[in-house]
Order: sequence, then C-alpha cells, then structure tokens
Amino acid sequence: MSNIAGFCYFLSNCWANYTQVLPKTITFVACNVNIVGFFIPYQKPTKRYHIRTLSITFQKSNMQQIATAQRLQTVEEYYFSIKLAQIRQMNEAGKAVINLGIGSPDLPPHPSVIAALHQTAQQSNTHGYQSYTGIPALRQAMAAWYWRIYGVELSPDKEILPLMGSKEGIVHISLAYLNPDDTVLVPNPGYPTYTSASQLCQANIVSYPLLAEQQWQPDWAYLEQIDLSRAKIMWVNYPNMPTGANANLQLFEKLVAFAHQHQLLLVNDNPYSQILNPSPMSIFQVDGAKEVALELNSLSKSYNMAGWRVGMLCGNATALQNVLKVKSNMDSGMFLGIQQAAIQALQLPQTWQEQQDKIYTERRQKAYQIVATLGCSHDPQQTGMFVWAKLPDSITNATQFVDHILEQAHVFITPGSIFGSEGSRYIRLSLCSTAETFETALQRIQQLL
Ligand SMILES: Cc1ncc(COP(=O)(O)O)c(C=O)c1O
Repeated sequence: MSNIAGFCYFLSNCWANYTQVLPKTITFVACNVNIVGFFIPYQKPTKRYHIRTLSITFQKSNMQQIATAQRLQTVEEYYFSIKLAQIRQMNEAGKAVINLGIGSPDLPPHPSVIAALHQTAQQSNTHGYQSYTGIPALRQAMAAWYWRIYGVELSPDKEILPLMGSKEGIVHISLAYLNPDDTVLVPNPGYPTYTSASQLCQANIVSYPLLAEQQWQPDWAYLEQIDLSRAKIMWVNYPNMPTGANANLQLFEKLVAFAHQHQLLLVNDNPYSQILNPSPMSIFQVDGAKEVALELNSLSKSYNMAGWRVGMLCGNATALQNVLKVKSNMDSGMFLGIQQAAIQALQLPQTWQEQQDKIYTERRQKAYQIVATLGCSHDPQQTGMFVWAKLPDSITNATQFVDHILEQAHVFITPGSIFGSEGSRYIRLSLCSTAETFETALQRIQQLL
C-alpha cells in the first residue's frame, strides 16, 4: 500500500470512529485512492465503530472524470500552439530556430501611439471598466479611417463596434448567429478560426474551394450546386490570407448578390488591406452590402499592434446589436489607454504606412529568393504580409517538407495544408522578420540543398 493509500486508510478509520450515522459499507475517496470499507459497529462497551477495508483502488482524478462539452471534441489544439512548443524546445537545445511562420509584426507601433497609451495610463482616473462599445472618440476615429481609406461612410454610433481583435469577432459573430447544424461556408484555403469558431457552435461546415487559376476567387460552380437551405454565414477574406490574392469590385458585387439571393450573412475579414496593397477595398464599396454583409478590420497588422488587441466590426446596426449581446457578456470593455492609442494610430498619415511597406518590400524580395531556392513558384502580384508559394511537383507532402527544413536548417515555414486541402501544395512565409534574418535563413536553406 502506498503512503497515500495508508493515510487514506487512517483517515477513514478516524472518520468511522467519530461518525454517528453510518451506512454499512462506504466508499472513501481521497488523493486519487478509492477505499471501499465495511463497518463493524460495536455497541458496548466502547460504543465505537471499526472499519474493515475491503479494497483499495487507484482512480483517475476528479478532473479527468468530468467530461468536457461535446463542442470541445470538435476542435484541435491550434497548429501554431503545437509547433511553437517544438520550436521552444529546439531553441532550448541551442538550435536558434528562425521562425518565418506566424504573422505577428516584429516592428513597433508609431512612437505617438505608445505615448498615448503611456499618458493615459499615468492618469489616476483611467483604470476602470470601459463601455462595451468603446469610447465615442474611438468609434469616430474608426469611421473617419473607413472614409479616408475606403471612401465608405459608417455611422460611428450605429455601424461600428470596436473589438479586442478581429479573431474574437469571428467567435462573437458565430455565437450570435449559429445554431447546431446551421451551415457555414468557409474558404479553402482559409484562416482556420472560421472553421474552429463554427465547430464550437456545432455548425455544419462547408469548405468551398478558392481557385488558384482564378486568382483565388471562390469556385462559383461548386457554390451553385450545393444545398444552401440551412446556410447562414459565408466567410470571405480579401485581401486573402494565406494566398495574398486581392478582390476587385466585380467579385465583391457577386458575393453581395449571392448573399442576397441565399439570405446569407456575408462576413468579409479584412485585416490585411493596409499591407503591400496599392488598392485597399471594403465590401461596403458595393451598393446594398450593408443589408447582408459585415466587415471585420484590425489594427494588429496595419499598425503593428497585434498584442494590443484592437479591431472593429462594421456594418448593419441590427447585426451589431446582436453581436454586442454576446460580446457584452464576455468582456468588460477595452482599457482606455489602448483606445486612446488606437485613435492615435488611425490618424497616422499615409506616409507611415508607406514606410512600413518599404520595409516589407525588402523582406519580400528575400522571401521570394528563399522560395525560389526551394524550387517553388509564386505570384508576384500577391499582397499582405506573407509570401505564398507553390511547391514543385517533386515534393509530395508539404508538412513533411517543412518539418525537414525545420529539423535540418532550423527554419520554420508554415505548410499550406493547415489552411485547408486547397493549400496542400503550398507553403507560406511570414514577412515578420528582419531582412538580415531572411538572409540567414536563405543561407541555411542553400546549405541544406
Ligand atoms: C485572416 C485573419 N483574420 C483575422 C486574424 C486575427 O487578427 P486579430 O489580431 O485582429 O485578432 C488573423 C491573424 O492572423 C488573420 O490572418
């Protein structure tokens, strides 16, 4: 018997001695040990009870026995969460891995943005809970930004809901609109969160192909022949991640018409429009879009504020109220300093964006060299903060290929397969490392090949 079991046996005997009302047999559970005992009551002379132990078994902890919700069985740990753990281990073993995987900007926000946070944080009356819909000045700055960047007019009071990042927005929208077995249309390849948020709502996911030969526009023939009777949400993401493809007005018009025809909530996820993109677009540039569409936007990539968690949901006032019902039960507003900093960022002149683009352009040239060295091909028209490249025919498995590069060259590249089956012949490189780091990565890969 282990010490724990012995201790439990002792405790059970003490308990038996001092308890007045007893069943004949008991199960005593403590410290993962299950003791089944039999009581022998003695009436006289001691009036004490004794316990005979019948069995001692070890059991799972209570926490392991509590079943998780079924919805949790539908999702897996995020690919990057697993991969980053592996990279951490490799770094601890002295391998100095170059991570070209995740799109988290390495550059800082503009100094005035940091100053706004600092100034607000220094005041004594800025630390309380904030409104669920953000301060009016933030919504006004977001509306002014939409007008300046896209020529789109939005009501700051009704058509803008500040968010703590657009990823949360994807989950809020899903929770606000999806019942189990509703159908959700998600792009393939696409950002995995559209799928996982839908899975958490136990919705039925239809992954619609984007066609490489048509600049990654949806496969309309596929969409026209599937059963859309229970379809509720259609996710689109232009400029597209991971492919870097851009939309045009005709595509947005077609999507809005499709949403009207099938009574779908069309959501354009638009966090990349400010990066290496000469013609930023919004779905609201299409007439009638506000009747069927919402748009997510974010300061994460545009203003190097990924860790700050600021984004926005724009569009139809009724839809925003529905999303607010979810959101207001989940967070308690965004820290005022972050809101003031976001206002500052949204007012930065276009020259700041141009400076960022200059840095990304240099990095992208290096990334193009890396993919060429790996025998991949790429579309030089692509936008955004990644390089998306097609593997040569000689490589049959993207995941094995990137694992090989990680293990042998200590350079981490994302396999396109994590974005869906249509990405399985591709790899994605993030531009969030310095040009020097890209140069080192290039040299390591050249040595490997
Ligand atoms: C397509 C897409 N949408 C949304 C997000 C989430 O951005 P945010 O930081 O605003 O939550 C990302 C982040 O990588 C993304 O790639």
